[in-house]
Amino acid sequence: RAEADPHRPRFHFVSPAGWLNDPNGVSQWNGTYHLFYQYNPEGAFHHRILWGHAVSTDLVNWEDAPVALEPGPGSADPDRDGCWSGVLVNDGGVPTLVYSGRHGERELPCVAVGSPDLLSWTKAPENPVIAAPPAGVDITAYRDHCVWREGSVWRQLVGSGIRGRGGTAFLYESADLRSWDYVGPLFIGDASAQAEEATDWTGTMWECVDLFRAGAGVLGGASEDAAPDALVFSAWNDGDTRHPLYWSGRYSGDTFEPAALHRLDYGGRFFYAPQSFLDESGRRIMFGWLQEGRPEEASVEAGWSGVMSLPRVTTLAADGTLSFAPVPELERFRTGHVQLPGRVLVGAGTPVETGISGKQLDLELELQLSAGSVVRLGVLGSADGREETAVELALDPDGSTGTLRLDRSRSSLSAEEEGLDAEPREGPVPMPGGRVSLRVLVDRSAVEIFANGKPLTARAYPTLGGEAVTLTAAAGTARLLSFDAWTMGEIFGGERTLFP
Ligand code: FRU
Repeated sequence: RAEADPHRPRFHFVSPAGWLNDPNGVSQWNGTYHLFYQYNPEGAFHHRILWGHAVSTDLVNWEDAPVALEPGPGSADPDRDGCWSGVLVNDGGVPTLVYSGRHGERELPCVAVGSPDLLSWTKAPENPVIAAPPAGVDITAYRDHCVWREGSVWRQLVGSGIRGRGGTAFLYESADLRSWDYVGPLFIGDASAQAEEATDWTGTMWECVDLFRAGAGVLGGASEDAAPDALVFSAWNDGDTRHPLYWSGRYSGDTFEPAALHRLDYGGRFFYAPQSFLDESGRRIMFGWLQEGRPEEASVEAGWSGVMSLPRVTTLAADGTLSFAPVPELERFRTGHVQLPGRVLVGAGTPVETGISGKQLDLELELQLSAGSVVRLGVLGSADGREETAVELALDPDGSTGTLRLDRSRSSLSAEEEGLDAEPREGPVPMPGGRVSLRVLVDRSAVEIFANGKPLTARAYPTLGGEAVTLTAAAGTARLLSFDAWTMGEIFGGERTLFP
């Protein structure tokens, strides 16, 4: 049933059926890439979560593997109500998962050990490996893990929040991944000044904390390495706050010295719970979860929910922020190259006849904006122009600040009656000299945009089956330097393997 849904992406990873949320245990092991994910095969809703598993040799073609973790059958099992998010580490050659076992309304750290092929997993008899959250702290939640080796010890962060003070991550240390000593909060997103407002933005809880040295360096490694560390988290509160942020700063000793807070993806909740790893060629690769922008009933009806982002190479930009680009391996899905000649786009002019169309596209544009200009790239447009999902780039009148915007107000004619998310999204983009490299990947309902390395990810559900691609200068004058477009293939041709 899910396969019949025209909104189901084809070159993004989706679960074989039912529900998918966070990427887990993302890694490369003896050459093979592993992607685990929060999975409910029973239906397109979040309930009794398993770890789904897929493997790949190139990060873009995936094969389903048997479910890796299932909630414990016994009523006393620490993960009897779900195997929540976690990571994969290499314990002296033994693949080991550290995840959150859910029991009733709470989660505690658990461990499972894998066979050499990573296909079957045995839970550690010591579970839960941490018996309770730190005593004497009024916490909002306690789950998700970032685990790394430092010298001769393991270190771990568990995501949390301290009531009235903001989100945090608790630091632990261990010799064997089974017995952990509490060190203290690594860093608290201090919200004491304007508790309400600040935690609206930084969250009362930090989900899926991911700490790494930006660039190719090693966490806790040489201090002469000038690259900053990034503390990535998904800000959550019991209102609507759900978005990925990161602190740049320096992790050293038992603390994190913050420098600045940044948004990780301007799509907000549409790129949630990201997790990254260093692959064997030294690239930092990040995956995130693209939530649905339609109501749960619609997903349940469609039989599936949740899209895994395309893998992104994460690098350090000159200004100390993170920069993102889809992995080059994605070019394997490209067919039917179309190029448009460079030209000048004049304000409020008629759209350029691009001749490009499709629901699965990879678009690459080089643009030169003049101060005050706005360029609009429309995708998923209907032939009659009534529907269109608009990607906009703007350079403000003094030419100093660039902005990337996504306007979904005309993405779907039935947005209102279907209760679709049509909120605009936007964020700043450095545009030195007005130059912008724009990359837009359209995969049916999934849209991933990168403007000079700044990502904006979102979902759109057109009703008219639109495939049109348009390009206009909506204001001022801009120069189109190059425009390359490709049709994108698909990961799974036929039936998916449904593992028990
Ligand atoms: C983030 C999250 C995690 C949790 C998992 C449960 O989306 O809520 O904090 O471990 O999903 O599926």
